[in-house]
Amino acid sequence: MRLAREIARHDKLYHDADTPEISDADYDALVRENRELEERFPHLVRADSPSKRLGAPPTSALAKVAHARPMLSLENAFSADEVEEFVARVKRFLALPADAFVAMTAEPKIDGLSCSLRYEGGELVLAATRGDGAVGEDVTPNVRTIGDVPELLPGEGRGPGAPAGAADAAPWAPAFAGEQVIEIRGEVYMSKADFEALNARQEAAGGKIFANPRNAAAGSLRQKDPSITAARPLRFLAHGWGELSEPLADTQYEAMKRIESFGIPVADLLVRCNSAEEMLAHYRAIEKARADLPFDIDGVVYKVDRLDWQERLGQVARAPRWGLAHKFPAEKAETTLEAIDIQVGRTGKLTPVGRLTPVGVGGVIVANVTLHNRDEIARLGLRIGDRVRIQRAGDVIPQVVENLTRDEPRPAYEFPTRCPECGSEAVAEEGEVDVRCTGGLICPAQRFERLRHFVSRGALDIEGLGEKSLAEFIELGWLHSPADIFRLHAHRADLLGREGWKEKSVDNLLAAIEAKRRPDGPRFLFGLGIRHVGIVTAKDLLKCFGTIEELRRAALSEGGQEELSSVQGVGPVVAEAVHDFFHEPHNREALDDLLSEVSPQPFVSDARQTEWSGKTIVFTGSLETMSRDEAKAQAERLGARSAGSVSAKTDLVVAGPGARSKLKKAEELGVRVINEAEWAQIVAEV
Ligand code: IVH
Repeated sequence: MRLAREIARHDKLYHDADTPEISDADYDALVRENRELEERFPHLVRADSPSKRLGAPPTSALAKVAHARPMLSLENAFSADEVEEFVARVKRFLALPADAFVAMTAEPKIDGLSCSLRYEGGELVLAATRGDGAVGEDVTPNVRTIGDVPELLPGEGRGPGAPAGAADAAPWAPAFAGEQVIEIRGEVYMSKADFEALNARQEAAGGKIFANPRNAAAGSLRQKDPSITAARPLRFLAHGWGELSEPLADTQYEAMKRIESFGIPVADLLVRCNSAEEMLAHYRAIEKARADLPFDIDGVVYKVDRLDWQERLGQVARAPRWGLAHKFPAEKAETTLEAIDIQVGRTGKLTPVGRLTPVGVGGVIVANVTLHNRDEIARLGLRIGDRVRIQRAGDVIPQVVENLTRDEPRPAYEFPTRCPECGSEAVAEEGEVDVRCTGGLICPAQRFERLRHFVSRGALDIEGLGEKSLAEFIELGWLHSPADIFRLHAHRADLLGREGWKEKSVDNLLAAIEAKRRPDGPRFLFGLGIRHVGIVTAKDLLKCFGTIEELRRAALSEGGQEELSSVQGVGPVVAEAVHDFFHEPHNREALDDLLSEVSPQPFVSDARQTEWSGKTIVFTGSLETMSRDEAKAQAERLGARSAGSVSAKTDLVVAGPGARSKLKKAEELGVRVINEAEWAQIVAEV
């Protein structure tokens, strides 16, 4: 929608260019208006709608910074076997005996976004996101607003949690020499409670709703304006380090304790383990504690404890050999399938949505689940009333993985054969899993998209009838089918009374509509939005049948599909789509209605012999009653060819206002030049 694009433009001005054109209140009003429109026209909601946007858009204005040491990622494991293999691999690499003792740390894997904090002389000088691992984004002013991140390292033993009196030993001594570098790395995250509260506030203010705490944290951190970050409750938890001018300790565990002593939070659940068994036991303990933790985690991270061994182990590709992320399996839950609703998408696709008895899975309540398509329902043998097992993994949408009452003797679910929105037949094409509504022009779920297509540049090309106006007229009840476009003149007075419409814009729009009462045949056919019928196929069909009426007769006749498939350039898939379209009574009615308003021009074969056959025509300057594409199509119908430049071979130049160099050249070469009205005369006469 145009409004959505407008909001995106303001977002960009605000975040990237830092030059907002409108006040926050006006911006909020736009967002609210967009949301209301989307609620009224759910089929208009674009994937990039502001209401769907997760977090901040990538902000190109944040400065890039190269990391002093790369920020690595971790290899993932999903089973106990893989964890044992990791421990064995480490021992092999270090040439240790299989029964050697390799201490490892184990700690929660926080679901946030990694961030590197650079302290020079104990002072925070830079904070950067991970980026691609080598180069991140400078988020220093934003990170300075996070309470967990100290501006100054208080000096060892002087941070919160340090033993009482530790700071008194030499309170005057500088904790860090000026050249000392300490880069602390960890996760910026938002607690579950803060995330819920933020979304509630955002909802009340009509602002962005975040899908999960991770997205909320990312959107809040990657802001151009740190005051926005400051208003968001972000936290930080350290899990490692980058460049160090001096080692922190000899072991991972001790190093983390030192970081903690600087006053920077470190996970409580960090432990040191001496065997794979202990690591797995800690994994189970963390998994058990997961739901009660204040933040989202998605696994457990193991790290070789001895730092000299970490050094020797090094890295493979972009992950260290000394670390492993043991991920939690997808969370599952059991519930009842209470109903199956069918949603009709803008292309007419029928999507079954399972309505569930609400159940908690992995921290969220799930009440709806997509069942994808007819085949998926059959595969799971789903019927209303079945007990089902659902699963949700990380950000992935919930899915039904098992039907627990499949054996109960109840009849199978019958997938609808009629569209629930308009009652038209719903069919699946051979070899396709998706069932689609054939109601095309009359199905309300498809109406907006169809109308948009009908007036688009490649079809009727009605200037001034953009998405916003279409949505407005649909809402006013003025537009149900394409024929209504040609009756908009009846609403002229009402339209003049509406905001944003002036006499000139209304008259221009109505004139643009009137100019299309005799549309080009193939463009008209293409504009009907029959599946698989693009402009080339539309031409091929009309080349053969001449008129829409003839095409319809063929499609409805016995053996019509065969007749259609025999057309050059048309295969069985197109033939079936055309057949289905004309077979649907609603479409026939809508088409009759449309044909009572407009008269598509019969297609004249390219091979037609006219005095213009084989001639070359050049259109230049601006055309007022038709588009350039339309003019070219007219030339084609006369058997002529339209070219882009004037040469000695040009037979005719049609020049509109503003024509310059091509007109001059034509005059130099003595090529015949006519104006648009004269051209229209030729087209009408031939
Ligand atoms: S260690 C070289 N420890 O997970 C290893 N990472 O999948 C650097 N993460 O990019 C990371 N919790 O952003 C480590 N306790 C933890 C972690 C953790 C979350 C993130 C981190 C990393 C990603 C790797």
